[in-house]
Amino acid sequence: MKKKILSFLLAATMVMGLATGCGSGAATTGGDNNSGSDASVASNDGGASGGDVQVGIVLPTKDEPRWLQDQKQFETILGDAGFTNQVLFSQGSSATEKTNVETLISKGIKVLVICAQDGAAASAAVEEAKNAGVKVIAYDRLITGTDAVDYYVTFDSFAVGAAQGQYLIDNAPSGSNVPLYLFAGAATDNNAFIFFEGAWSVLQPKIADGTFKIANSSEAEALKDKAELSREEIGKIIGQITTDWDFNVAKSKAEANLTAVGSDMKGDVLVLAPNDGTARSIADVFASDKDVSSYVVTGQDSEKASVQYIIDGKQSMTVFKDTRTLAADSVAMAVDILGGKEPATDSSYNNEKIDVPAKQTAIVVVTKDNVKEALIDSGYYESSEFTGLK
Ligand code: BGC
Repeated sequence: MKKKILSFLLAATMVMGLATGCGSGAATTGGDNNSGSDASVASNDGGASGGDVQVGIVLPTKDEPRWLQDQKQFETILGDAGFTNQVLFSQGSSATEKTNVETLISKGIKVLVICAQDGAAASAAVEEAKNAGVKVIAYDRLITGTDAVDYYVTFDSFAVGAAQGQYLIDNAPSGSNVPLYLFAGAATDNNAFIFFEGAWSVLQPKIADGTFKIANSSEAEALKDKAELSREEIGKIIGQITTDWDFNVAKSKAEANLTAVGSDMKGDVLVLAPNDGTARSIADVFASDKDVSSYVVTGQDSEKASVQYIIDGKQSMTVFKDTRTLAADSVAMAVDILGGKEPATDSSYNNEKIDVPAKQTAIVVVTKDNVKEALIDSGYYESSEFTGLK
């Protein structure tokens, strides 16, 4: 497998060299990573200041470990293969994101890989890229309302939400009216809708038949008999339960929820937390409430801190989204694009304007039972990065 990736990368180097008019020597960069000097910039441009950058990558924020994992994979894969590349972070701002895209266009990128801060707002930035002849790959988050997205590389986000919901079902305390707390991601992120849709697809029958009782969303409660929700309906629910993907918002929302409910909504509870960062904040709040006897809480991303939480029994599960695969898939697409070949895709996502050809990657559920196998044996983390791992 590794061999296959390496030979593909070698071919990739040659194609990129040809496509940009660089010889292979020029394309072989020294892995000069400047990430330390500027909070939002990391580059691997072989020291060619102001020189050509072949692939530009824009990621949403450095403040969540998830995106640092992606940065690392891009720099490793592209750097090892000798691509000149630059990773820029938008730090939660669509305006910074647009400036980042403009900066990369001015450096001559041929392919832009972008994970949007706000899926709708990013359309303006990618339209500029398209007008400059740059091919656009939406990375992990779909960009909506524009035809300027050429491809989408993503995990199976519906499966992420469904796995979270199913975990809650499989690990629920017995009885009926089990309190269920729902939390979601940012309403500006298309994924937040898909994650929730996936979770709802499995949780809804249990809510409808009275096994679970929603503790913190009157909108979800009002829709409990509907198996399939429209985007607008999901939007209403997310309006109440959003964390904005922000640890602090998640924490205060969980605190406010626990203050608002009666004692019948405490005891043994279930918590749908959308990702690891928010899961840790929410778990800490539930753990410190003396009337909550036990909680089952979901997550996703397999962030190091959450893996430790899982080992310590403070978070119940996470979803492993192997950023090595997603970054490699994006690079493979870039190579095909630059070589004039149609990249391989296996699905498509409608972005409210066009059907964007997509390449999807499967996800893996991680619990205390398979954490070693999924994350250590696969080489994603070192066992020395954790304590108490058996
Ligand atoms: C990603 C998640 C991530 C979340 C917050 C989503 O779009 O798919 O992996 O946890 O954004 O950054």
